[in-house]
Amino acid sequence: MIIAIDGPAGTGKSTIAKILAQRLNIVFLNSGSFYRGITLSLLEANIDLSDEDGILQFTDSLKLEYINEHLIVNGVDVNHLLHSDIVDAHAAQISSIVPLRHIVNKKLREITKSLSVVCEGRDITTVVFPNAEFKFYLDASLEAQAERRFKQGCSNLSLEEIKETIRKRDEIDKNKKEGSLVIAKDAVYIDTSDLTIEEVCEIIVNKIHI
Ligand code: DC
Repeated sequence: MIIAIDGPAGTGKSTIAKILAQRLNIVFLNSGSFYRGITLSLLEANIDLSDEDGILQFTDSLKLEYINEHLIVNGVDVNHLLHSDIVDAHAAQISSIVPLRHIVNKKLREITKSLSVVCEGRDITTVVFPNAEFKFYLDASLEAQAERRFKQGCSNLSLEEIKETIRKRDEIDKNKKEGSLVIAKDAVYIDTSDLTIEEVCEIIVNKIHI
């Protein structure tokens, strides 16, 4: 079974997907962690981020595994390094590279061959798992998005700076050549701006009939 959740940054997708997966006793699959992990590895290896061929060659050589809901790159658990400002600043650009998206999508589909998952991202309901049993689109106002990121405490930026970073990132995510963030016709749309995490979870659980 696949429960697919899409939406922009700071809508609570990861937290909610994690809680749902726990409640349903299935795996939480965070697709953004793959784009973030690749971005981190590119930065660490000092790859020129304007050289698409170089990026693809490097990405192809990476060993990407998803174990116990953590991303493992070349045998190293990088989960705790994925939400730094520098990764935040470059992940959207890196995730715009179409063949790189194909590498990630293949990986995500491989993982779900043997597992039931709650998978969240930007193109999960539309491109990666268009036949998912349940689909949700979580949205929020820019103010709510920025405040949530700010409260996570993993950024050194001010609230206004975070707002601007999120605005730019969502704009890139909504205008990608492939895998852009759109609302799937058959997804349940939830505006989470004035809802708590628990309230959103309740709405979703009530829509899921297993
Ligand atoms: O969900 P996140 O903020 O961790 O995602 C990091 C970046 O990866 C973000 O810019 C959007 C991109 N992404 C994507 O293009 N497609 C996905 N399925 C998931 C994330």
